[in-house]
Amino acid sequence: MANTILVGAQWGDEGKGKIIDFLTAKVDLVVRSQGGNNAGHTVIVDGTKYVLHLIPSGILRRGTMCVIGNGVVIDAVSLAEEIEGLRKQGIRVTRENLMISDCAHLTLPHHRALDRAKETAKGKGKIGTTGRGIGPTYSDKAARTGLRTGDLLQPVRFSERLKARLTEANAQLKLLGAKPLDFRMCKDEYLAAAKIITPFLGNTVVYLHNAVCAEKRMLFEGAQGTFLDIDHGTYPYVTSSNTTSGGACTGSGVPPNRIDKVVGTMKAYTTRVGEGPFPTENDGLGEFLHGLGREFGATTGRARRCGWFDAVFTRYAAIVNGIDELAVTNVDGLDTMESIKVCTAYKLGSKTIDYPPTDLDALAKCQPVYVEFPGWRKDTTAAKKWGDLPAKCRSYLQAIAKLTGAKLGIVSVGPGREQTIVL
Ligand code: IMP
Repeated sequence: MANTILVGAQWGDEGKGKIIDFLTAKVDLVVRSQGGNNAGHTVIVDGTKYVLHLIPSGILRRGTMCVIGNGVVIDAVSLAEEIEGLRKQGIRVTRENLMISDCAHLTLPHHRALDRAKETAKGKGKIGTTGRGIGPTYSDKAARTGLRTGDLLQPVRFSERLKARLTEANAQLKLLGAKPLDFRMCKDEYLAAAKIITPFLGNTVVYLHNAVCAEKRMLFEGAQGTFLDIDHGTYPYVTSSNTTSGGACTGSGVPPNRIDKVVGTMKAYTTRVGEGPFPTENDGLGEFLHGLGREFGATTGRARRCGWFDAVFTRYAAIVNGIDELAVTNVDGLDTMESIKVCTAYKLGSKTIDYPPTDLDALAKCQPVYVEFPGWRKDTTAAKKWGDLPAKCRSYLQAIAKLTGAKLGIVSVGPGREQTIVL
């Protein structure tokens, strides 16, 4: 497989972890380039469940190198726990299979505290963040006041800088009515985590450049989804990084002309967590999917909001990411439905539009235009090839791919590696 970027084509949680794990079999390296431990990829291998937050899912395959690039924000304590947790599950995590950029920004305790305090202060107007400190970390990065993983290599300098940042943050926390943080506790916790993390640090740009020269095949695993992108998403109800394909280049240092293909992952319906517009949201579908035990977040356990497939948004995702191929997941979630709706356009006043308005007030006024498909009412979870899927299911999948404007490449009918159909 050529160098491929995998992105989420909706609001995150499209089942990227499973598709990444599947595609990883065909690559030498897996690269993470944005986001932080707000992401949660669930991968099931031989019946064992692994939940990954910062480490690329390539770690579950022997012989695959995993790289965490400069664009990722790293909560060192959480990453150290993730490494130790995987080791306890019998997964080898060494310098042979993991490298972390020394330029990646650190998410520190005051980022988490500020994230939560700001959300509380916003009240009804909150974003619904994961509370992992992502926004404040990227704010510090843009303000040029952040600390980076490389700073952990110099404990004295790190401690001085942390102290200065904590003093400022504590003043802000006080204004927000939140408890201040204790410098010593934060420092000790991060320097303990540093012992686990620093052996993995290095210049990942040079490493990846050499890998490109050696014609190694790479997979860039996206976190979150297109409409959580800080530039192209439903701002301000977004995350703070570029979740679209361009973010893979800036967040790794691998230039655009070394990328061969973009794969977009989307569910056969739509979900979103947190606040923000969601034109095809449907409480009945949500109750139905939650009743099946589906659609609870891997990171926060929150019940996801659910709605019908929205081709207006996925078409926009295809444009902004340059999606070549689609991977459609969670098809089995619709197995027992009698009929399935798909939004093909919006009515906005007297106009019919086929793109999402960037103004949220206008988006809130949009009425979805639906077409209805008959449900297939058959279990798809044992399907191994395209021909095993019920005819009505194949028609549905072909229709949503056509409406999105990209080729259907992969269909997923369950969480297991074997429940994956390649077209
Ligand atoms: P933050 O990234 O924690 O700042 O959260 C900002 C928005 O992005 C919120 O609506 C979150 O629910 C959403 N979000 C962040 N990470 C994920 C993810 O991995 N999946 C789905 N939604 C996410």
